[in-house]
Amino acid sequence: MKTETRLLVADDWEDYALLDSGHLQKLERFGSQTVIRPDPQAFWNPARPVQSWKADARFAAKGPDEDGAGQWEILSPRATESWPMRWNGLTFTARRTAFRHMGVFQEHSVHWRFAQERIRAENRPVKVLNLFGYTGMMSLACAAAGAEVVHLDASPKSNGYGKENQSLSGLDDRTIRWIADDAMKFVSREQRRGNRYDAIVLDPPKFGRGTNNETWRFEEDLPGLLDGVQSLLTESPLFVIATAYAVRLSYLALAQTLADRMAAYGGILEQGEMALPQTGSDRLLPTALYARWRAD
Ligand SMILES: C[S@@+](CC[C@H](N)C(=O)[O-])C[C@H]1O[C@@H](n2cnc3c(N)ncnc32)[C@H](O)[C@@H]1O
Repeated sequence: MKTETRLLVADDWEDYALLDSGHLQKLERFGSQTVIRPDPQAFWNPARPVQSWKADARFAAKGPDEDGAGQWEILSPRATESWPMRWNGLTFTARRTAFRHMGVFQEHSVHWRFAQERIRAENRPVKVLNLFGYTGMMSLACAAAGAEVVHLDASPKSNGYGKENQSLSGLDDRTIRWIADDAMKFVSREQRRGNRYDAIVLDPPKFGRGTNNETWRFEEDLPGLLDGVQSLLTESPLFVIATAYAVRLSYLALAQTLADRMAAYGGILEQGEMALPQTGSDRLLPTALYARWRAD
């Protein structure tokens, strides 16, 4: 298996921009709205003083936890609850949430595009499993490229937003099964059922809860989940994408753990970091780690 190390920069957005960052804060434009959010890695100096940043809303975190709760402070009459955004022909709703998330993880566009290219190049029916799928951008990207998708997330609310995004994107004629369940539970059930997938995507949080309060702990559960992922692949799989954020981990660790499971298929393993480009600067905001395997 060949290994490639690459920094993936999500520079394919018209509807999103990182306007400035520094002093542990970031100023971002999500479509028509501009927000200020904390960022635990932005230690550098901002291009302009944070106090001079103009935004519609600011997120004040209650604690240091990157996924922790907090409060939104409305800073302008232009602030709105939810609003449309677009990426590459897809339309979805952005909204400020209690945990500082915005209804989209824009840095993942590097993987949405990768998945679309692989599915389109296949010219045959492709079945994709998207684990921890949140509001479904990866699922929509794969369905728009012609794949049949199983979208899994423990949050029925997120799946509901995903279904709305499917309609907003005019993809109601595409097959996306929206399933609310615990990821580990679902994978074991799929094993027993003998269901197989050509491609699997997983973006687990550091800590999470399943639909019946099952606990997900990244450091403890990742190897077991990757075993399950391996067992759900068809004989000639297309790709596997694993991403991680807010965990004390190197992309080498993630990649080597995935490589153990994909060794039998040969192929190419890409590993590295994901980042967002800052407008008018050569600054990059690091966001997550990734390991992705593809058939060669
Ligand atoms: C960071 S988000 C994933 C973002 C997604 N990859 C995207 O790009 O939109 C992590 C998701 O994992 C879900 N989750 C947490 N614990 C889970 C569990 N035990 N089983 C299934 N989903 C879980 C959460 O509801 C959340 O939507």
